[in-house]
Amino acid sequence: MPEKTLKLDATQEGLLQAAHILRSGGLVAIPTETVYGLAGDARNDKAVARIFEAKGRPHFNPLIVHVSDLDMARKVAVFDETAEAVAAAFWPGALTLVLPLRADAGLSPLVTAGLDSVAIRMPDHVVARQLLTAFAGPLAAPSANPSGRVSPTKAIHVEQGLGGRIEAILDGGDCKVGLESTILGLDGPPVLLRPGGIPQEALEAMLGPIGQGGNATKPNAPGQLASHYAPEAGVRLGVTHPDPGEIWVGFGAGCESAQITLSARGDLVEAAANLFQSLRDADGMAGSVGRIAYAPIPDIGLGRAINDRLRRAAAPRPPETSRS
Ligand code: TXA
Ligand code: MG
Repeated sequence: MPEKTLKLDATQEGLLQAAHILRSGGLVAIPTETVYGLAGDARNDKAVARIFEAKGRPHFNPLIVHVSDLDMARKVAVFDETAEAVAAAFWPGALTLVLPLRADAGLSPLVTAGLDSVAIRMPDHVVARQLLTAFAGPLAAPSANPSGRVSPTKAIHVEQGLGGRIEAILDGGDCKVGLESTILGLDGPPVLLRPGGIPQEALEAMLGPIGQGGNATKPNAPGQLASHYAPEAGVRLGVTHPDPGEIWVGFGAGCESAQITLSARGDLVEAAANLFQSLRDADGMAGSVGRIAYAPIPDIGLGRAINDRLRRAAAPRPPETSRS
């Protein structure tokens, strides 16, 4: 465990230092366009084990491998024609592909939790890409939050959640998308394993109708357990008339009296970027009443991913993430 978490700027010097820490098996929180990731060398068992430890994450939950380019991706996973076409269309970007793991991928088995598939993504953030290029290898990176808590979209969120538990935080500013990547299973017929930053509609325009994979009790993407993104306060959804004392988070017209808004003009892209910060802010404001009420969000495009995260934030909590 490090004594102190270094804060690195996204300068040449900061990037080199981050790459050096990663090469030594250390953990660095890195900016991506979706959320901050907690990165470690995907080939190093000890580094990967420390990711789970720092997050307090159950070991059965596999991690996403981040790559700088397609050559690196093809060394880790088997790309068929469909995978090549999807990667060409959506990478770099907020799309993770689950593909057959190559026998000679060289990854720590902890990354894939022993599965014969691997989740892989090429992030679209200049700092992440520069770091991946400097490191010149695959980085395992789950969202850089304690397991079950709200994902970080700013360096300060990482510091609040994981400060003192990881070697460094590389500050790349605010995450533009604000929601984790969409996860598409392509190790069989295309299946949507997690809604996220790339709308399902955009994938279906290319691939035709896509099946939904997994659910809260039998997750296909093993991280998709019901309660997640849990703030301290209780969360209610689809609220047009908040109860007295509730913190109301608005979206679009009719929510002018809301204390917080995801997007006053009803823009889903803006709402996605503000979602996790709104959970943190509302939680801080909820006080002794301890309740947050979200206005309805249309279930289209990025709205599906927003509603998915809000349902998890509102779900009953297992004891370890309960309010006590
Ligand atoms: O946007 C993102 O995806 C962020 C940034 C940092 O890239 N990362 C992220 O990672 O959200 P994480 O670990 O919080 O979520 C990874 C999800 C989990 O639900 C996990 O179960 C699933 O990916 N996953 C990983 N490998 C898988 C596999 N082989 N098959 C199915 N699901 C897999
Ligand atoms: Mg996460």
